[in-house]
Amino acid sequence: MVAIIVHGGAGTIRDESRIPKIKKGVGEAVLAGWRELKRGSALDAVEEAVKALEDNPLFNAGTGSVLTVDGKVEMDAAIMRSNLEAGAVAGIWGVKNPISVARKVMEKTDHVLLGGEGAVKFARLMGFNDYNPTTEERIDQWKKLREKLLNDGQIPHWKKISELIREYPEVLRSTVGAVAFDGGEVVAGTSTGGVFLKMFGRIGDTPIIGGGTYANEFAGASCTGLGEVMIKLVLAKSAVDFVRFGLTAQKASEAAISIATEHFGSDNAGVIMIDARGNIGFAKNTKHMSVAYLNEEMKEPYIGV
Ligand code: GLY
Repeated sequence: MVAIIVHGGAGTIRDESRIPKIKKGVGEAVLAGWRELKRGSALDAVEEAVKALEDNPLFNAGTGSVLTVDGKVEMDAAIMRSNLEAGAVAGIWGVKNPISVARKVMEKTDHVLLGGEGAVKFARLMGFNDYNPTTEERIDQWKKLREKLLNDGQIPHWKKISELIREYPEVLRSTVGAVAFDGGEVVAGTSTGGVFLKMFGRIGDTPIIGGGTYANEFAGASCTGLGEVMIKLVLAKSAVDFVRFGLTAQKASEAAISIATEHFGSDNAGVIMIDARGNIGFAKNTKHMSVAYLNEEMKEPYIGV
């Protein structure tokens, strides 16, 4: 069954008046992906859905990405097909849609992951124009959060990142992603600005194949949350492996998140999945995770936070 699911990040939405806008954003993204899926391509569907989220400044990816400790935007993205073709960028800046650059890495190079200056250089070669994804809202948040953390003496660095995020859940403004099945293949894609006040050069789980993004002939998965957790647990691949060993996409999502909780406590992880029959699954150990999905049996998308 043809199907698509998107997420706009897991975490705590402290200002709940934002929720209707967030729901609208994931709803629009799933419909953008669905339009492509109806034309027959899970790959185009995932790219378009993720682009819609990257272009919406509410979400922490593309326009509206959070800022590093030194006030810069460094974005990560990855896309992967069930035939194991994959492309990713890490610590890229100056582009509007990192997911599209990741797709070009997959289609135009022999590599999987390009980082930093090399990724920017490649993007320019591929015709991606210079673009500043920094928004005023993110600059204000960066100033306030940095002040607060420095005054409270909570950081000179990210040694206690999990505790820090528990205390300041707004630090984790997480990631967007999409997974789609077009009747033939599953494709997964993820994009993020990372974590507020991350150290310059820090790379999260999103562009790490198997960490935050994975697809094979059994299923696809896109993760959200604190990247260090997903990297250490190879969480996207683990979730897909659960499907390989017989779990439904929903049970596999729950099993993957329970591993994250078991090792690192709650408030750090979410995952969306589709298996190679089009069955959908999603799970989180955070208060919120914005999700929208649609399949051919549904008249309109499910949208939840
Ligand atoms: N999950 C996004 C990040 O930690 O970078």
